[in-house]
Amino acid sequence: MDIKIETSRLTLRPWGEEDIEQLTLGLNNLGLAKWLAFVPHPYTTSHAENWIERCREISNSSDRPTAYEFAIELKPSRLVIGGVSLNKIDWRAGTAGGGIWIAENHQGHGYGSEAFEAKIRFAFRDLGLTKLVNGYFDGNENSWAMQRKLGYRRVAEVTSRCMADGRQTIEHVTTLLRSDWERHMTKRPLTD
Ligand SMILES: CC(C)(COP(=O)(O)OP(=O)(O)OC[C@H]1O[C@@H](n2cnc3c(N)ncnc32)[C@H](O)[C@@H]1OP(=O)(O)O)[C@@H](O)C(=O)NCCC(=O)NCCS
Repeated sequence: MDIKIETSRLTLRPWGEEDIEQLTLGLNNLGLAKWLAFVPHPYTTSHAENWIERCREISNSSDRPTAYEFAIELKPSRLVIGGVSLNKIDWRAGTAGGGIWIAENHQGHGYGSEAFEAKIRFAFRDLGLTKLVNGYFDGNENSWAMQRKLGYRRVAEVTSRCMADGRQTIEHVTTLLRSDWERHMTKRPLTD
């Protein structure tokens, strides 16, 4: 099931083999991977190939898959600048998790917020989910700034481990309820 989401500056679409180079370039960066739980370092082309294959399997597995993994493409160049996911979908409970990364040289231009907001809209409006669970490692102020702006609240702290550098750290768990998001976005819309 190939889902595409358009925003004013971005296209979110499934990963494909043509993305191996950009995926490897973006994630083979310890300064970025240190904020992600499950990205190995160094990140090689074979990691990227396996990831793309896994994404294909998940999206073909069912009409109601457990995850949607999107490459983030910049318009109009179609350059892939990151990835955003909606994962651990529990259709019965109406909940899901997810993550995001934007390649270092494209950070700070609002692309992360734009892609994350599009993912949230997709989850709540198109899929009918009611609660999203996210998180961020202690010290990742950019991620918290992005999530806070979109209405997420911090609800817990848990111990976690970063695969890239092996450190044990604190993860701040964050959640967003559909009702809160709708209220929040009428006050502070990011996109049309
Ligand atoms: C977190 C991340 C996805 C944010 O994406 P981004 O495109 O850089 O973020 P945005 O440009 O939308 O900015 C979101 C907020 O973060 C802050 N921010 C982002 N980049 C910043 C920078 N370079 N300097 C200062 N503040 C910054 C700002 O508060 C900004 O809000 P504002 O635009 O209203 O001021 C990106 O930084 C990233 O990929 N980081 C590494 C991986 C990661 O941390 N993933 C999330 C794991 S929980």
